[in-house]
Amino acid sequence: LYVIHIAAEMAPVAKVGGLGDVITGLSKALQRRGHLVEIVLPKYDCMQYNRIKDLRLLDMVLESYFDGRLFKNKIWVGTVEGLPVYFIEPHHPDKFFWRAQYYGEHDDFKRFSYFSRAALELLLRAGKRPDIIHCHDWQTAFIAPLYWDLYYPKGLNSARICFTCHNFEYQGTAPASDLASCGLDVDQLNRQDRLQDNSAYDRINPVKGAVVFSNIVTTVSPTYAQEVRRAEGGHGLHSTLNFHSKKFFGILNGIDTDVWNPTTDSFIKVQYNANDLEGKAENKDAIRRHLGLSSIVRKPLVGCITRLVPQKGIHLIRHAIYRTLELGGQFVLLGSSPIPHIQREFEGIANNFQSHDQVRLVLAYDESLSHWIYAGSDMLIIPSIFEPCGLTQMIAMQYGCIPIVRKTGGLNDSVFDVDDDTIPAELRNGYTFLTPDEQGLNNALERAFNHYINNPGGWQQLVQKVMDVDFSWETSATQYEDLYSKSVARARAVAA
Ligand code: ADP
Ligand code: GLC
Repeated sequence: LYVIHIAAEMAPVAKVGGLGDVITGLSKALQRRGHLVEIVLPKYDCMQYNRIKDLRLLDMVLESYFDGRLFKNKIWVGTVEGLPVYFIEPHHPDKFFWRAQYYGEHDDFKRFSYFSRAALELLLRAGKRPDIIHCHDWQTAFIAPLYWDLYYPKGLNSARICFTCHNFEYQGTAPASDLASCGLDVDQLNRQDRLQDNSAYDRINPVKGAVVFSNIVTTVSPTYAQEVRRAEGGHGLHSTLNFHSKKFFGILNGIDTDVWNPTTDSFIKVQYNANDLEGKAENKDAIRRHLGLSSIVRKPLVGCITRLVPQKGIHLIRHAIYRTLELGGQFVLLGSSPIPHIQREFEGIANNFQSHDQVRLVLAYDESLSHWIYAGSDMLIIPSIFEPCGLTQMIAMQYGCIPIVRKTGGLNDSVFDVDDDTIPAELRNGYTFLTPDEQGLNNALERAFNHYINNPGGWQQLVQKVMDVDFSWETSATQYEDLYSKSVARARAVAA
């Protein structure tokens, strides 16, 4: 198959969170399985250009429509992690991708609807005829209606559209008039409220549009796919998802085991494997010293690596810091927040612990430190209120760091409680709790501490066991491949 991903992120060049990891990991797995995979991204000024190989300008000027006129775009091509990537650089006075950040701009809707239209224009003009156009999240959700409304009639007609929603909290709604900017006939398209937000009559909703207009709709775990079909979890889209349930699937993400692998990881102090846990202990000592934590006594080190947003259970993360201290452990948090009052709150906590030798908060995005914390920590805490998939629990396990998670979304599909007799023993790999409150978290954290302190041999066996769990993309990529192939086959059968 020929698959083109159109997205706003791609690790490691333009990564904000798990979306970036998924674009690269899934694409590499599909490529390994023999498919032709390409990616289209905006050309952000703040990308990690040193991670792009052979970046060059294509000899083409791409004109794309916006706000009633045509704008020129430069098109660059390069290789990221062995994958061909096209970068679109608009020549628009608003300098859409010269903002020194990926998101959080007042005109994000405009920036990404411009990009979506230009990306389809690129496929049309460059003569690309993919079998699958795979779009991700609200930023590229308009690709689905744009494709069927404008580009299919123009001849870009080989593709089926797959849309993956990585988080239904972010739907990118906007006033209906904004949609006209990218040339869509809103009245025509919005017949039967197909783009209409379900709760605001004067707003359109890109994610809803993608659910309605795509051939395949997925989200990133089976449990989350169930949760969003219920009123309390669907962020207003549950009825739409139920209506379209035949084409809606939950596929658990994998992780890129070339990147997340303690036997080859160049970011960590000492490489190690499940049969050589001395190496893990050395990483723990080194990270404790590096962060100014006491490294004399054997104590559990609890890590937390996260965007600090309400979804992640901010009050429970804060509580976990203090409870860990009370239980005699050490805590390290690596995270940052796009929300000013949350960032300020954690800066306050970080200051309180500035010269403390058991707790450290690093309020930054730091890729290399994240690897080192996974390698050095004994446990990773993820008390999410909801979690579409979550990658940090899977990464943690690769590094022998035991996850302590709230049972929701993809956490529920990948972490199984050590003490739960109803689950087959071979699957049990961490600690879970259900109620998103302090008691729930305390219970899981205390059981983990108890195990670590009172049964070091049993703990070591658990560490070795989780390092062997297979979270690679292979299984999930096969599921995408299956959905793609069936959709393509259906289209061909109809055409024949
Ligand atoms: P989300 O996409 O909701 O942020 P995921 O668990 O799917 O959550 O993915 C988070 C990804 O971002 C992981 O690769 C994690 O290691 C990384 N990450 C999160 N916060 C930071 C940070 N402060 N510094 C470095 N990497 C981070
Ligand atoms: C989103 C979700 C996260 C998921 C990631 C990749 O950011 O919050 O749970 O793992 O996308 O799909």
